[in-house]
Amino acid sequence: MRSRRELLQIFAAGTGLAAIPGAARAQSEPLEPTPSCGATGATTPTATAGPYFRPGSPERTDVTEGRASGTPILIGGRVLDRDCRPLRRALVDLWQADEDGRYDTTGTYLRGHQYTDGDGRWAFATIVPAPYTFRSMHIHFRVQRPGGDVLTTQVFFPGDPSHDRDRQFDPRLLLALSRADATRVGRFDFVLA
Ligand SMILES: [Fe+2]
Repeated sequence: MRSRRELLQIFAAGTGLAAIPGAARAQSEPLEPTPSCGATGATTPTATAGPYFRPGSPERTDVTEGRASGTPILIGGRVLDRDCRPLRRALVDLWQADEDGRYDTTGTYLRGHQYTDGDGRWAFATIVPAPYTFRSMHIHFRVQRPGGDVLTTQVFFPGDPSHDRDRQFDPRLLLALSRADATRVGRFDFVLA
């Protein structure tokens, strides 16, 4: 298992994934970059929490609980303010469906939270979620700077054919997908007011 430190290095600010040996853009995906904090001054769009949020998730980096099922992926990025300044000690809380499109509604599988480091970085080791009824592939997040309002949102996967049937899909919330060696990597920077 990768340490939190190793995971954060993969998403290290300023290096970009191209600097990681073996990293390459996913093929055939004409990716829109994650909307940047400086480009529009806009904050990350919100999305509904849905019915599956549960408070009290464990603080951790790896939310797979050692299960071998599903396709591993590292999801990470930074939490920034509108002026592109990293926000440290921001809460990032993740919950998502498994490879069959199901949520763990009694335990903590594929649920977890952590706090950004001094460069605003966060990263989780998780699996690729499956789409489920009327929903495309997505991962839920609650993000909160110290003392700030909670941003509730979701991130989506480029190239997922089920976007069309998902009324909640928002192209501004697409992950930037790539690979670090054999590992799938999805990057997203949250921008808070
Ligand atoms: Fe969901």
